[in-house]
Amino acid sequence: MPLKPKVLVTRDLPGDAISRLRERFQVDLPTPDEEIGHGRLVEHLEDKQGLLCFLTDRIDADVLANAQLLKVISVCAVGFNNVDIKETTRRGIFVTNTPGVLRETTADLTWALLLAAARRIPEGDRMVRSGGFVGWSPSLLLGHDVHGKTLGIVGMGDIGTAVARRAAGFGMRILYHNRNPSPLAAEVGAEMVSLDHLLRDADFVSLHVPLSQSTFHLIGKRELDMMKPTAILINVSRGEVIDEAALVEALKKDRIAGAGLDVFENEPKLAPGLVGLANVVLAPHIGSASFETRERMAKMAVGNLVDGLEGRRPQNLVNPEVFRG
Ligand code: GLV
Repeated sequence: MPLKPKVLVTRDLPGDAISRLRERFQVDLPTPDEEIGHGRLVEHLEDKQGLLCFLTDRIDADVLANAQLLKVISVCAVGFNNVDIKETTRRGIFVTNTPGVLRETTADLTWALLLAAARRIPEGDRMVRSGGFVGWSPSLLLGHDVHGKTLGIVGMGDIGTAVARRAAGFGMRILYHNRNPSPLAAEVGAEMVSLDHLLRDADFVSLHVPLSQSTFHLIGKRELDMMKPTAILINVSRGEVIDEAALVEALKKDRIAGAGLDVFENEPKLAPGLVGLANVVLAPHIGSASFETRERMAKMAVGNLVDGLEGRRPQNLVNPEVFRG
């Protein structure tokens, strides 16, 4: 019997994903306390044909140079900025991701942050817990209305569109900024505008762009200065899309009213000063973290790995130029 191909899975997966992989491959799965850092990744990949990894695993040219047998990298995330795509493509390695299945869950979290920041829920929670709530008051924790306001979506892809769809229930006007006009914009009644126009007009600015050279620090001091002093910025994309030091300054000086962040520039580290601010809601990168969605993502990531290693074109190939089927 031919030997089963070897794969590395950098962290455990929910559901029956690991057993499905074990039916076909020799699976190297580190124990939960054995963290696979960059150096260990190089060692573990020396004899592997497949890799199933996460957004925290940096797959750079050094890792790839030592992974001579590697054919498929299946990223269990929609964002794949952790992988050097140019180098994988040069080496003929398939890279796949898990789009679509996390769209609605991430849109839900976007709204959770938006509402929490607008209506100051975490501040209220802290006040109640600490005994600071001493009775109703007409001016207690006044926030900002969400209904009837203008939502600005930067990046009208899958997730941006799902966020926009939810805005209908709040009777919001929707602006969006995207490289190309979105075919779904009409369905959600969204108007395409320049980034500057969006920043000037929107009451809520929500970021849904992938991280790339062109979106790194897309929102910096200049852009924050353009926003309304009553505006709230939401980021569930990648931390590096915002210049976090500039955001801290803007929040400190009340240049904008608030922010809701699920991602950070140097995750899990936070920019100095961020935790001390009351006008920011912080979440630990949990955009897609529901039981159902994490199981769907694992299933999709396994499917992509199996297809790639068995010579079929994986459904979610991000570098299709590698496939010669
Ligand atoms: C989460 O951040 C993802 O890219 O799936």
